[in-house]
Amino acid sequence: DSLEKIDVKIYENSNDGSIAIARQIAELIRAKQKAKQKCVLGLATGSSPKTVYAELVRMHKEEKLSFKNVVTFNLDEYYPISRDAIQSYYRFMHTHLFAHVDIHPKNIHIPSGEVSKEAVKAACAEYEKEIEKEGGIDLQILGIGNNGHIGFNEPGSAVHSRTRLINLDHSTRLANSFEFATISDVPRMAITMGISTILKSRKIILMAWGVAKAKAVKAAVEDDETELVPASLLQSHPDVQFVVDELAASEL
Ligand code: GLP
Repeated sequence: DSLEKIDVKIYENSNDGSIAIARQIAELIRAKQKAKQKCVLGLATGSSPKTVYAELVRMHKEEKLSFKNVVTFNLDEYYPISRDAIQSYYRFMHTHLFAHVDIHPKNIHIPSGEVSKEAVKAACAEYEKEIEKEGGIDLQILGIGNNGHIGFNEPGSAVHSRTRLINLDHSTRLANSFEFATISDVPRMAITMGISTILKSRKIILMAWGVAKAKAVKAAVEDDETELVPASLLQSHPDVQFVVDELAASEL
């Protein structure tokens, strides 16, 4: 479709799309291994990437896919939150991926929801520095919020934004409230990589499954770039791909 400003790959269902993404990740890891280089992955949480991680775990167990050369940087974390909380992205990543593969713990980076308010700014600057020290992100995986957010960059996030503390939109807290006892238990803030942090990745794959994402996908892919739809800011990236199922593509 000539209206599409981003390359969109449509799969019949989320399972097929997830397996295709896992294959791309595994290919990159193996290519980097062959070249004796680290593979720096930017990782996402939420329901969208669960099957991708399950497939990577399967490939580790059944196809000897090793994560020894893999360095990871997660996009975001609630703030404040303890690592041990069942809703923390720290726990999510260990439950769905890290506990089941041979990644070295020192190669895992997740913004900390435990630092004091006074220390957040320095921790965010340090996070950016660590990404740079590792040579930048080779491949960034993204989900998309119903409101078009990427990471926790809510509508209105600046294109030049970097890792920082943000206030969560009410709609995001509502969308994520199923994980918490009540909506007032959902943290009001989060630490997220910025839009510019994400755009610096050499390659970006955004995944979206289900009809609830169809409007956000259409706005990101077909409308003009606007900070009101953070995912639309990906249009300026030279190597970005959306992998979606038929339902998420239904408005295209
Ligand atoms: C969450 C996360 C995002 C995620 C999005 C969609 O709040 N911070 O990184 O992409 O919202 O979540 P889900 O994949 O569960 O639909």
